Amino acid sequence: MSVLVIGGGGYVGSLLVKNLIEKKIKVFVLDLFIYGKPEIIFSGYHKSEFLEVIKGDIRDIDLMKNLISKVDNVIHLACISNDPSFELNPDLGKSINYDSFYPLIKACKNKINKFIYASSSSVYGIKEEKSVTEDLSLEPLTDYSKFKALCEDILLNESGNKFCSTILRPATVCGYSQRTRLDVIVNILTNNGYNKRKIIINGGKQKRPNIHIQDMVNAYLNVIDQPNEVINDQIFNVGFENYTLDEIGSLVQKSLGEDIIVEHKDTDDERSYHISSDKISRILDFKPLFSIEKAINDLKEAFDKKLLKDSFDDPKYFNIKMMQKINLQ
Ligand SMILES: NC(=O)c1ccc[n+]([C@@H]2O[C@H](COP(=O)([O-])OP(=O)(O)OC[C@H]3O[C@@H](n4cnc5c(N)ncnc54)[C@H](O)[C@@H]3O)[C@@H](O)[C@H]2O)c1
Repeated sequence: MSVLVIGGGGYVGSLLVKNLIEKKIKVFVLDLFIYGKPEIIFSGYHKSEFLEVIKGDIRDIDLMKNLISKVDNVIHLACISNDPSFELNPDLGKSINYDSFYPLIKACKNKINKFIYASSSSVYGIKEEKSVTEDLSLEPLTDYSKFKALCEDILLNESGNKFCSTILRPATVCGYSQRTRLDVIVNILTNNGYNKRKIIINGGKQKRPNIHIQDMVNAYLNVIDQPNEVINDQIFNVGFENYTLDEIGSLVQKSLGEDIIVEHKDTDDERSYHISSDKISRILDFKPLFSIEKAINDLKEAFDKKLLKDSFDDPKYFNIKMMQKINLQ
């Protein structure tokens, strides 16, 4: 088996690539490596015979066609991957997150066995329903989420017997990887708790679904191992712990020390999300193995070992700061 991981140099991708290599699967990684050099992001397995790194742009369709001809499966993670980074330059965001998608799918069709797309659970918008399941309508609130939903449509329209496509809608990921993001909620609170002994929570009652990064990676590994008939045309939510911001704050305090001060600020961002991941448990027998506390403790260990230096100022931890710095076109 061989896999092309597009965006494999990112937060989730770097750990996914490591796990695929450990399973002795040949991995091709296509990434712009916006957040760090491959030698650093893949440190420890950079020289593996199972890894081939290609620095390039998903918008370069000739390059993509060439790579697609070499692999059986594609996992597509590349993205301008949060709302603020997208809004910084909407034309750029659209060109990467949306415009490149249809040509890519066309190039993959009838050549690729499995195509797995990283959408987002933010495609639902805010829902009153207690259990947000995959069959509910999509009401994305931002352009980042809107283009995720539009790519889902393209993929489902193109999938068929000879092109097996699967969509994952991840919750917010947390925990440590060799390209850690410190701009996602659990990681933000942990960074502040560990280093400033103070966390600020805007609001507090809003629910934010989260998933440990290793469980997220395990979900991709699970899907890629499934028979096509089980996963073709399927959409799965992936996120198991629908905590409120206050509850996440308490977990940080519990894990890092009760001396941490929790301050509340008023917010007009009352967005509260919750998703059901029953479908992936039921159909793929996928169960999360790691908790949010574990993600906090993994980050604590990384801070203890000085693996996350300059954790408030180095732009490599913050997508928006890095996008501002490099001015990608
Ligand atoms: N991390 C989360 O909490 C989360 C939640 C829901 C969905 N997702 C989705 O999962 C995927 C992975 O998320 P992540 O947190 O690892 O994101 P990330 O930003 O860390 O990784 C994205 C990678 O894509 C690369 N990239 C960006 N533009 C590119 C281009 N034009 N050509 C080639 N490579 C390019 C970047 O260099 C980066 O390495 C994304 O699609 C994201 O939208 C993530």
